[in-house]
Amino acid sequence: MGNVVLSVSLSLDGFSAGPDISVERPMGDGGERLHEWLFDSDSDRAVAADATSPTGVDAQVARELFAATGAVVVGRRTFDVGVDLWADTPFPVPCFVLTHEPREQLVMKSAAFTFVTDGVERALELARASAGDKDVLVMGGARTAQQFIRAGLVDEVQIQLVPVLLGAGARLFDHLGSNHIELERTALLGSPHVTHLRFRVLK
Ligand SMILES: NC(=O)c1ccc[n+]([C@@H]2O[C@H](COP(=O)([O-])OP(=O)(O)OC[C@H]3O[C@@H](n4cnc5c(N)ncnc54)[C@H](OP(=O)(O)O)[C@@H]3O)[C@@H](O)[C@H]2O)c1
Repeated sequence: MGNVVLSVSLSLDGFSAGPDISVERPMGDGGERLHEWLFDSDSDRAVAADATSPTGVDAQVARELFAATGAVVVGRRTFDVGVDLWADTPFPVPCFVLTHEPREQLVMKSAAFTFVTDGVERALELARASAGDKDVLVMGGARTAQQFIRAGLVDEVQIQLVPVLLGAGARLFDHLGSNHIELERTALLGSPHVTHLRFRVLK
């Protein structure tokens, strides 16, 4: 069984999206800055999906994340604002969308979106069954990530720390209650664009 990995691009002041999120601005005002490291500025394609992409550390981290991921969990808001942009599932693996509104499965080019109305444990159960030996990626947004952390379901936290102060937006590590959560740093890599931090959650 793989790990449950929370991987999020974060501003230095702790936001995983800017304010005023909409279909027109899927990452909120200014939030697209957080994903610049992931994209080839010439072609606007994800470096990880492009075999000819640069061989720098950012591309390597993105490729490793793609290779390790067997299933993805996202919140309905991330799905709503992202699906047209992705024109597919966000990773080429089954994707489970947390929502309170039941919906038919949506089959895309690489895999399908399955809508889960029974909470994070059920979403994880389904994702694990699809992922096999690979990891389940909890992709966010913040409200979804916070529930996985609160429930003690996250094994690894990967933060792509972007050198920008967004000033406002959705804080990733908010609404976590007063539980003390200890982590062990297992990797530290970086480029001028982003610092890649990996932590194991100590349970
Ligand atoms: N920085 C990054 O790496 C990154 C990664 C992913 C997303 N994002 C961004 O994050 C933003 C969205 O984050 P968000 O926190 O606003 O929303 P979100 O977590 O994507 O979605 C929240 C929604 O998910 C559903 N949901 C969550 N938990 C549930 C549960 N236990 N049971 C049933 N439904 C549940 C609810 O939908 P219903 O209202 O349908 O019930 C809720 O309104 C977007 O801007 C997105 O682009 C950033």
